[in-house]
Amino acid sequence: MADEVTELLTKAYIDELETVMNYLTNAIVLDGVHAEEVKESLEADVEEELEHARMLGNRLKQLDESPPGSMEFEARQSSLQPPEDTTDVQSVIEGVLEAEEDAIETYRALFEAAGEANDPVTEDVAVTILADEEAHRTEFRGFQKEFPND
Ligand SMILES: [Fe+2]
Ligand SMILES: [Fe+2]
Repeated sequence: MADEVTELLTKAYIDELETVMNYLTNAIVLDGVHAEEVKESLEADVEEELEHARMLGNRLKQLDESPPGSMEFEARQSSLQPPEDTTDVQSVIEGVLEAEEDAIETYRALFEAAGEANDPVTEDVAVTILADEEAHRTEFRGFQKEFPND
C-alpha cells in the first residue's frame, strides 16, 4: 500500500535525524583513551545517517509528499542519551546497537511495503540504506567485543 510506504519513509527520516543528533552528541562527550576509536566511528556515521535522511526526504518529495519538520518530531532513542559517566563507552555501544537493529527492522519493513506497492525505486532506497545499517551493526559488534561488560 502506497500509504504505508510514505509512512515508513517519514518514520525513517525522523529516526535518522534523531540518530544524527545522538551520535554527534556521544562523539563529543565520550572521554578516555578507549573512547577514541568509537568517537571517530560515530563521527563518520553521522555523515552517513544524514545522507540516509537526505535520500529518504528526496524520495518523499518524488512521491509528492514533504519530509516532516521538527514539530512532527518524536524522540524514541532513550538508550542513546549521553552517559552520566563520560568514560562509559560500553553504554553508548549498546545504544548504537539498539538503534541499528531498529533501523534494520524499519528498512526491512520499507522494502516489503515498497514491494507490495510495486515501487521498485523505494525498494532500491531501502536496500541501499539497509546495507549501510548492517555494516554499522557489524562495526559496533566489533567494538562490543573490545569493551566487555564488567
Ligand atoms: Fe541510517
Ligand atoms: Fe546506522
